[in-house]
Parts: sequence; structure tokens; C-alpha cells
Amino acid sequence: MPVLIHFIGHSCFFIENENAGILIDPFISQNQKAVFKINPAQIKDIILTHGHGDHMGDAIPLAAKTGARITAVFELADFCSNQGASVNSVSLGGNVKLNGASVKLLPAFHSSSVTGGKYAGMPAAALISIGNLKIYHAGDTCLHSEMKTAAEVYKPDVVMLPIGSTYTMDIDDAVIAAEWLNAPVVIPMHYNTFPAIEADVQDFKDKIEKIGKKCFIMNPGESIRI
Ligand code: NI
Ligand code: MN
Repeated sequence: MPVLIHFIGHSCFFIENENAGILIDPFISQNQKAVFKINPAQIKDIILTHGHGDHMGDAIPLAAKTGARITAVFELADFCSNQGASVNSVSLGGNVKLNGASVKLLPAFHSSSVTGGKYAGMPAAALISIGNLKIYHAGDTCLHSEMKTAAEVYKPDVVMLPIGSTYTMDIDDAVIAAEWLNAPVVIPMHYNTFPAIEADVQDFKDKIEKIGKKCFIMNPGESIRI
């Protein structure tokens, strides 16, 4: 059963197969570069890595429109629940059943607040199990050695890594992250959305290929089948 990965822009992906429809970090209406071609009826679950506006995005209105449940760490889930969303409230390490898939939130080194500065709990990476695939979305993070643990224990097949620097790791650290996570397929994210995170994505791709991995540079609106 093939899995489709759609890149919507920034750190937002829609991952689906015939049973699952998972939207991650839906920063869409406020991102002029986002390309959203997903039928909202296909969205069954929403995962938030943390509360910052460029990740939380349209989660609340999309949850209201689709009935999709938001999975997030306790404090952020609580905030979403107070906004009327149905939620899976979890902490790092818990394995959460989604529609046709599951997710485990893992450590990311960053911060997390919602608009207005209210603390939103631990930031997270998301390890999604869908069909036979394990997909690791790093969230916003610096390079950290928990990635070695994630590789050893969970053996991800696909990793999405931020490369834009300033708020996350830069290209060279993301190449090390790709080595540590040890997945055959790497997808860059969180770059070129605004000036502070401009990055030479071709340079990243060249460096990833040099360490023997596949790098898919996805433009907003593009999809790959894995
Ligand atoms: Ni952030
Ligand atoms: Mn961000």
C-alpha cells in the first residue's frame, strides 16, 4: 500500500494512504508560499510539533472544518481543546493511535509557546508509522544526539529535516542529523519561507547525496509516492 507525501510548504506535510490522512504543522493561510491542494475531507488527523505560529497555523479552523483530531503535547493540546478542537493529549514517548496510522512524539530542542507567549509544553519531533513506513519529522530543532537513539530504536525510512538556520539547525548540522538518523530518504524543510531562513537547498542535496542518501527537494504543492 503506497504512501503519498505531499509538501504544502515550510514544515507542513500531508501524509496519506488509503486508511490515513495526516496533516503536520499546517501553516497555510499565513504562508504566501504554501500550496494547499488537499481535499479537506481527506484530513483525518492533525499533528502539531509545537505551538509557534508557523507550525500551529490553521490547525484550529481546519480541525473545526474537518473534525480531525489534533495530536500534541499536553499543554498545547489543552490550548487547542479550549479552542474547541478534539485532541489527543500526549507526552513525549507515548504511542498514539491515529486513523490508519500511529505517532510517537520524540524530543526536539527548541521552545514552544502560542501567540501571546503562553507556554505550550515541550517541542517535539513526530515519528509516524504508516503502512510499513516510519517517517520522522524533526520539528524545529538544533542537532541533538536523541536522533541517534531514534535511529537505533525506531529505524526511520524517511526523515524531514529543517535546514534554514536561525531558528533551527543549518545545512551542515542537518547533514549530520541525516547521518545520525540513518534513513535512506531525506526531505529538507523550514527554509526560504522568509528571509531569516534562506538556505541553498541544492547545496544540502549535494551533501546528502555525498553520504549515500536520497534527497527529495519538494516544492510546495509537490507530492512523492514512497
Ligand atoms: Ni518554532
Ligand atoms: Mn518554525
